[in-house]
Amino acid sequence: MLTIAVSKGRIYEEALPLLAEAGIVPIDDPKTCRKLILQTTRDDVQLVIIRATDVPTFVEYGAADLGIAGKDVLLEHGAEGLYEPLDLGIACCRLMTATRKNAPPITGRVRVATKFVKIAERYFASLGIQAEIIKLYGSMELAPLVGLADCIVDLVDTGNTLKANDMEPRDLIMNISSRLVVNKAAMKMKNAAIAELLAQFERTLAKRV
Ligand code: ATP
Ligand code: PRP
Repeated sequence: MLTIAVSKGRIYEEALPLLAEAGIVPIDDPKTCRKLILQTTRDDVQLVIIRATDVPTFVEYGAADLGIAGKDVLLEHGAEGLYEPLDLGIACCRLMTATRKNAPPITGRVRVATKFVKIAERYFASLGIQAEIIKLYGSMELAPLVGLADCIVDLVDTGNTLKANDMEPRDLIMNISSRLVVNKAAMKMKNAAIAELLAQFERTLAKRV
């Protein structure tokens, strides 16, 4: 049995066609069903439905053999115990800094609100900017509006969330997409099954280019 960890929401929706090409179609729909383990049309594959930020943990500990997670989440978590063999090219967005519209340029020490603490620390250190990082779990866009921070580090896709909150994107930290990750022990123990799945995903992705 292969267990694949996927988060509900945009990654699940965008992963479905890729999985379907490999003959993996979940029997139940996580939008309407409270099951956390989903059987699929393949007897040898099941999905576990978890929070996006928990995917690397499940795969690292071998609770799932494979997982699909955003590069943002993988960088923030650290990649010990995981292989990252494939960029699936789904859930694409950008990790950016953003400020209030027309905010003056940041000089000296900066207060940054983000849920990507490690990434933000590394980014500002690489620029030689002293940053005080304030950890939030969501709604980062609010922080500069209420004086909690000068700047945020967050994901941007359409830019609509920033615009709706009188904010503007500043610097690109990195482009983000979701990756297939594999538990290192599973890669050895279940090599044939995992290699076959990887090859199928690669064929599907090659057709998309
Ligand atoms: P959690 O549920 O663990 O708090 P989350 O709410 O960030 O995580 P999602 O919103 O489903 O979970 O995001 C999952 C992944 O999708 C992110 O890690 C990122 O790689 C990508 N992503 C996030 N926001 C966007 C967006 N607006 N457009 C495209 N991709 C996005
Ligand atoms: C993400 C991100 C931004 C928004 C950016 O939030 O944290 O707030 O998407 O997308 P946009 O540029 O297209 O507006 P998400 O939709 O995942 O909400 P959440 O942070 O509350 O989970």
